[in-house]
Amino acid sequence: MTTTATEQDTASAEESRTATGESTGDPILQVRNLQKRFGGVVAVDGVGFEVEQGTVTGLIGPNGAGKSTTFDLITGVQNADGGQVIFDGTDITGRRPEQIANRGLVRTFQIARELSEMTVLENVMLAPPNQLGESLWRSVLPGFRGGVSEQEAELREEAWETLEFFAIDHLAGEYAGNLSGGQRKLLEMARVFMTDPDMILLDEPLAGVNPTLEEKLLDRIHELQSEGYTFLLVEHDMNVVMNHCDPVVVMHQGKRLMQGAPEEVRQDERVLEAYLGGEVEQ
Ligand SMILES: Nc1ncnc2c1ncn2[C@@H]1O[C@H](COP(=O)(O)OP(=O)(O)O)[C@@H](O)[C@H]1O
Ligand SMILES: [Mg+2]
Repeated sequence: MTTTATEQDTASAEESRTATGESTGDPILQVRNLQKRFGGVVAVDGVGFEVEQGTVTGLIGPNGAGKSTTFDLITGVQNADGGQVIFDGTDITGRRPEQIANRGLVRTFQIARELSEMTVLENVMLAPPNQLGESLWRSVLPGFRGGVSEQEAELREEAWETLEFFAIDHLAGEYAGNLSGGQRKLLEMARVFMTDPDMILLDEPLAGVNPTLEEKLLDRIHELQSEGYTFLLVEHDMNVVMNHCDPVVVMHQGKRLMQGAPEEVRQDERVLEAYLGGEVEQ
């Protein structure tokens, strides 16, 4: 996907593209001994794993295993009590979410209320500056809708391309708040791709998505994977995990229980026990 980098993020985006453009076989993401406690609850208890570039890596585990918190720690949404996150060779532990996003590591976010009152096209056009800092962008918003600057024309063109790629261009003029659950997920993906990421974290991207759109979303993920993008995917639908993720990292009680090919995970006694011991999903 093409870039609409602003001056502020050009340097770091350039850097990460060079570093990941040719895969050296090194992991793009290294999570080491991450810790996070909420009062008496140890949500993440020393989890560690690596993600190879160009994979769709699954992150699974029973409810409460610490998957979402791990995502928060990786993307800087919450600060870890201990451990390290290395992205593309750089220690990003403790950095702010927008700094991490500018390096090319992003996660999808639910469409906020104020964005649901804007059209799908506007949502996608607003995505890149959102990652830089929403307040900054809001200050230029009043002139935004009527503007005809060259930069805006470029942004608009890329927004249309992105909408087409995610097959929601027919919804460009619709208010985001009127979209179905599945269409919303596609919009969330489109917004994330406007930031020119290298690696995308998806937390249950298929929740509430009908089978047709689910297939569309998975197709897009694999198409992007073949272009070199990397995905880390939390998903509780085991069929999706077994058919679309490789490798699969299994978390249990804040730790990595095991990691392997889908087939190995499926047959692992410890994984079965972890799921049966906790609340059984599925
Ligand atoms: N903000 C929070 N405050 C208190 N406890 C939390 C918070 N977030 C998560 N937890 C707890 O941490 C554990 C891991 O939660 P989470 O990361 O959401 O697991 P998962 O996504 O694997 O279901 C759970 O016991 C959960 O209740
Ligand atoms: Mg979760």
